[in-house]
Amino acid sequence: MESWVGWLLLLCCHMFFFHFSFSHSLCHPHDKIALLQFKTSHTFSFGSDDATYAVATYVECSDMDPKTTTWKNETDCCSWVGVTCHPISGRVIGLDVSCSDLFGEILPNSTFFYLSHLQSLNLAFNKFYFQLSYLFGGFVSLTHLNLSSCIFEGEIPSQISQLSKLESLDLSHNFWLRWKERSWKKFLQNTTFLKELNLDDIDMTQSSMRPLNQSTTLVSLSLSRTGVWGNLKSDILCLPKLEQLHLSDNSYSPNGQHLPSLSCSAASLTVLDLSYNYFEGSIPVSFSNFTHLTVLDLSHNIYLNGSIPSSLFTFPSLTLLDLQFNQFSGQIPNVFPQANNFEKLDLSHNNIEEELPSTLSNLQWLVFLDLSMNKLSGQIPLSIINLQYLVFLDLSHNRLEGPLPNKIRSLSNLTDLYFNDNLLNKTIPVWCLSLPSLLKLDLSYNQFTGHISVMVSQSFEFLYLCNNKLQGNIPQSIFTLVNLRQLCLSSNNFSGFHNINYNFPRLERLYLSSLGLTEFPKLAGKVPMLTDLDLSNNKLNGTVPKWLHEMDSLYFLNLSQNLLTTPIKQFSRNYNLQFLDLSFNLLTGHISSSICNVSSLNVLLLSHNKLIGVIPPCLANLSSLSILDLQRNKLNGTLPSYFSMNGPLRVINLNDNQLEGILPKSLSNCTKLEILNLANNQIEDKFPKWLQTLPRLTVLVLRANKLYGPIPSLKMKHGFSSLLIFDISSNYFNGSIPKTYIQNFQAMKNVIRYKVGELYIQPSSNASVYEFATVIEFANVTTKAINMVFKKIPKSFIIIDLSINKFEGEIPYVIGELHALKALNFSHNRLSGPIPQSIGNLTNLESLDLSLNMFIDKIPIELTNLNFLEVLNLSYNHLIGEIPEGKQFNTFENNSYIGNSGLCGFPLSKNCNKIEQQSPSSPSLWREERFEFGWEAVVIGYGCGIIFGIGLGIFVLFSGKPEWLVKMVGGGIGNYVK
Ligand SMILES: *[C@@H]1O[C@H](CO)[C@@H](O)[C@H](O)[C@H]1NC(C)=O
Ligand SMILES: *[C@@H]1O[C@H](CO)[C@@H](O)[C@H](O)[C@H]1NC(C)=O
Ligand SMILES: *[C@@H]1O[C@H](CO)[C@@H](O)[C@H](O)[C@H]1NC(C)=O
Repeated sequence: MESWVGWLLLLCCHMFFFHFSFSHSLCHPHDKIALLQFKTSHTFSFGSDDATYAVATYVECSDMDPKTTTWKNETDCCSWVGVTCHPISGRVIGLDVSCSDLFGEILPNSTFFYLSHLQSLNLAFNKFYFQLSYLFGGFVSLTHLNLSSCIFEGEIPSQISQLSKLESLDLSHNFWLRWKERSWKKFLQNTTFLKELNLDDIDMTQSSMRPLNQSTTLVSLSLSRTGVWGNLKSDILCLPKLEQLHLSDNSYSPNGQHLPSLSCSAASLTVLDLSYNYFEGSIPVSFSNFTHLTVLDLSHNIYLNGSIPSSLFTFPSLTLLDLQFNQFSGQIPNVFPQANNFEKLDLSHNNIEEELPSTLSNLQWLVFLDLSMNKLSGQIPLSIINLQYLVFLDLSHNRLEGPLPNKIRSLSNLTDLYFNDNLLNKTIPVWCLSLPSLLKLDLSYNQFTGHISVMVSQSFEFLYLCNNKLQGNIPQSIFTLVNLRQLCLSSNNFSGFHNINYNFPRLERLYLSSLGLTEFPKLAGKVPMLTDLDLSNNKLNGTVPKWLHEMDSLYFLNLSQNLLTTPIKQFSRNYNLQFLDLSFNLLTGHISSSICNVSSLNVLLLSHNKLIGVIPPCLANLSSLSILDLQRNKLNGTLPSYFSMNGPLRVINLNDNQLEGILPKSLSNCTKLEILNLANNQIEDKFPKWLQTLPRLTVLVLRANKLYGPIPSLKMKHGFSSLLIFDISSNYFNGSIPKTYIQNFQAMKNVIRYKVGELYIQPSSNASVYEFATVIEFANVTTKAINMVFKKIPKSFIIIDLSINKFEGEIPYVIGELHALKALNFSHNRLSGPIPQSIGNLTNLESLDLSLNMFIDKIPIELTNLNFLEVLNLSYNHLIGEIPEGKQFNTFENNSYIGNSGLCGFPLSKNCNKIEQQSPSSPSLWREERFEFGWEAVVIGYGCGIIFGIGLGIFVLFSGKPEWLVKMVGGGIGNYVK
């Protein structure tokens, strides 16, 4: 018995040895030939250039050495790297040539397809281009196929469904590969052993998810960015073996799709990624059945709302929970258990309120915590700052208040700390500036006070302390941080900026606005990488220093609100400037035409200076210039005569200069023009009806020039259809009110409820840093000049102003179609006839001025429908009869009606019972009257977003924080680093 067992053992060992040695000696010659031919026909012979390209593209390939370099005719193919042979037959059963820099189409006659015994094939990260051959369907023994990132293209052949033994298939990141419904369905039906399927980034817009619920063997399914369609159903989430499901970025539910309620009592999923899909509504209660989850990503759905179910915070294995960019509200439930595995928690960009829950301190393994962009309040508890493994902590853009904890235990791994834009106060604690690993610190936009006296950590790359109430001298050590790339100290009460040597070899952005600087910072030598420099709102005087002239890396330069007298004299061709703001200085002299050497210039703001001379004609043809603001200078001469075809200009603001001559017709070449403000000049011409060809023109202000003549009717169907502001007041126009224009003002007809972010008229895309400071100013009809200065023009501010002209005839009845109008001013004209009843349809109207005309008849009772009307001026007309009563009409006073001797009733003292006939007031009288009405009341109605002032109140504009800075600095680095 014993010997029998021994003999068997011996035999086994012998066979094992036999097989082992055999597998090293036997390589099937057919397979060897096939492999050698495959190698030769797909090895790129052009050498190393392309290899570096391959390395750069395929960062996933850690193994840079092509496996095929070991393939030599002289050696046994079973010993080649990437080749596995069957131990007995010697047939090649496994081939892994991933990351081997193979190139070119695999042709149908390729010997590669003779490798019919393959069970495992990996061609990932090569460049085959061309179609995926139907002959892949011949590898019927395959259990594992990986063709990821091979740049295959075209349709996936239906023969792929013959691979019925497949257990895993990876076709991901072949962006031009398409799978159609029919063959996709057949494939799923035939592959009954399939466990892993990864189709990320292939085109499945012609396939649905529907047949997936038959795939009961699936363990891992990834369909991110495929465009696969069909509703997400619970049965997929409940597939019995499914552990990983990635369905990110398929943009489901343009019409709104809710997350499904689970039909299973406990789903097996451990990883669920449904991010970027526009799901809406709340998270179903049944999601608490996902008790095995380690990763849950519902981020960037934008419309998910309601409170976050507390069960999500108590899954025992959860390591990552990402809910950022949704609309979740309510509190963070105070349920974090003692035993947990959280490493990353991201609830940023939601509407979460109230205090941070105390059990957050149980997350002792947490590495990443982002709760920014919410409405969290209360103090920052010490317990959170003591989470010892934290690397990233972002609590910015909330309503957190009070002082920071004074002492902490350890945050020795923390590299990123963002507390900006909160209500934090008292002094900045020492630990904050001296954490050993900290690279990025943002404490801007808080209410920190006191001095900074500590030695700051030398590792800083980003240091933002701007917009606080810090005072005293800044420690010299800040100015010598060798790794510093961005520094913001703006808007504090710091002192002692004299004789500081700034020594930052790597500086990219420097913000020193509103610090009372009287001299330019002395940057040591030329800082080669400085791109952004903000020295606005200081007391810099005289000339721009020479080093600034040489700073050719700059693309953002803001020197506005200083006392500079001489502009940059010569702009060299090396400049890369995109944004130049020299507004609100004391610049004199001419604008040098060398400015046009800066071909990258996108935004040029020279407004509110004392510049003279002509506008350099080349500015009208600069290849990137989209915003040109030269308002409030003393520029004279004519407008540039030639604006190039399809030029990039979106905003032209030349308000309040001394420009004369005619309007160049080539302005109509600026097809991107959105805002044109030429008010307060001496331009003498007829109405520029040719501007009607500009499809995006939104704001047209020609007020206070010498324009004349009738307004010719429009022939173009869509002419001026985007206009929201039409102001041609204080000119010499005559004839009738242009009815065809009112008919065409399509944008004024639609009342739109704007979402946040769409609220303002913004020049699109690349000009985002410029938020329309003082783009437009309106004056009241009176000489008392009540100005409105917009920081941003709200889109809902829709007005027509034809006042102070010589228009005559009746108001066209169609005026009643402009439902979105907020203000209508026809005053100081020679209009006659009755006030049209249709004005009563303008239910958004807040200001109506028809004064100083010759309107007759009664005030239409329909005007009482104007529920938002705050300013009404009907004075000095020939109106008669009883003033309507009720609603807003009870709030208007005498001076809304004076100069109409035929009117009676409240608020006039004249009682309507006495029927008297009175002659209208004489025209000579009304021309001399002045009013106190203005836009002021209208403005108040808008609250934030508009800044207004009386007379020279333009400086009111800058009492708040400049919004572009908030955008760049506040939101800036947080977004930059993630
Ligand atoms: C490989 O070697 C064999 C014999 O050793 C020879 O017949 C054959 O031509 C060689 N093949 C190539 C591609 O060099
Ligand atoms: C395969 O076919 C192509 C033409 O389609 C031909 O150029 C090539 O020589 C053929 N290769 C072999 C190995 O027969
Ligand atoms: C399913 O797989 C079997 C076995 O490989 C094959 O014979 C059959 O053609 C396949 N069916 C389809 C629809 O491709």
